[in-house]
Amino acid sequence: MSKLLLAPMEGLADCVLRDVLTQVGGYDGAVTEFVRVSGTLLPPRTYLRICPELASASRTPAGTPVIVQLLGSDPECMAANAAQLALLAPAGIDLNFGCPAPTVNRHGGGAMLLDDPERIGRIARAVRQAVPVDIPVSAKMRLGVVHTGKALDCAQALEAAGVSSLVVHARTKEEGYKPPAHWEWVARIRESIALPVIANGEVWTVEDYLRCRAVSGCDDVMIGRGAVADPFLARRIRAVNVGRIDDSSRAAEWSELLPLLAEFWHQVQARVVARHAPGRLKLWLNSLRRRFIGADALYWAVRPLRSIDEMNRTLAQHGVLLSRAPLAHVE
Ligand SMILES: Cc1cc2nc3c(=O)[nH]c(=O)nc-3n(C[C@H](O)[C@H](O)[C@H](O)COP(=O)(O)O)c2cc1C
Repeated sequence: MSKLLLAPMEGLADCVLRDVLTQVGGYDGAVTEFVRVSGTLLPPRTYLRICPELASASRTPAGTPVIVQLLGSDPECMAANAAQLALLAPAGIDLNFGCPAPTVNRHGGGAMLLDDPERIGRIARAVRQAVPVDIPVSAKMRLGVVHTGKALDCAQALEAAGVSSLVVHARTKEEGYKPPAHWEWVARIRESIALPVIANGEVWTVEDYLRCRAVSGCDDVMIGRGAVADPFLARRIRAVNVGRIDDSSRAAEWSELLPLLAEFWHQVQARVVARHAPGRLKLWLNSLRRRFIGADALYWAVRPLRSIDEMNRTLAQHGVLLSRAPLAHVE
């Protein structure tokens, strides 16, 4: 059975969005936003902050396994931190070789490592050796820094290091998030190694998903921004994969989404300081505007608002009923 994974998205998809999206269903697993490892041994609370699911057998409340992602460039330090993380029994540990952020790249981490397959191999091997065998260690890479010349070397180095699967985001660092994603390159990588390869990049619709699988030849796909813009995408893909027709209309989906927006807002207030909470909901609504007219109207209505009370009033006017008593605000 083909697997569908929810991508790591730092600053966009945290445990609250993972909870809501996996409640809708269709995902076989999710990966956390990266935890940056640089020189020190991180305390357990750092992992628990980014992945509170660790306290519930590394699963979202809906039961979807959550893998924790590490980002760093020093093999020994990554290994020591991975060993520490392993004590919290994550569903898996993923290694980030794709982040294009300048602050990360300046320290030689993330996508910059794609210029140095040998080092990528050393990092992955050190982590694999430091972690008990029952915890899978996987990796996520882009196609290269500026060009694709070392993509196959990187994938082969990861395979030789013992990782159990590889997500390929089908773009170079230089290409950022600009379409298209080069799914044909995922096929080349898949053909060069024996590991399960998971295709990633530019899947926004069921049609994209089917084309991505056909071009890459991969059974498994990871979805990022498309999952945030369309919380029902994974469920529709699952329906296609099991030969069922998901004929829920966009209007029906929007009605289903309203209580999920309420749930999201409720949890955000519990986790985020009051002055930042409105921004979090606006960020998600901004993604949802791609698919839902209702989200567009709501986005413009809340955009100028700064306070929780104003947000609550406007959300109620738009049918986002606050099903529970508001939580005490975090200050
Ligand atoms: C806001 C944002 C944050 C991201 N953070 C991470 C991250 O922490 N770790 C990672 O491996 N990839 C990260 N990515 C990359 C995504 O996981 C994914 O590879 C990329 O968005 C391509 O997939 P998509 O076209 O389906 O969005 C991030 C992407 C976005 C848009």
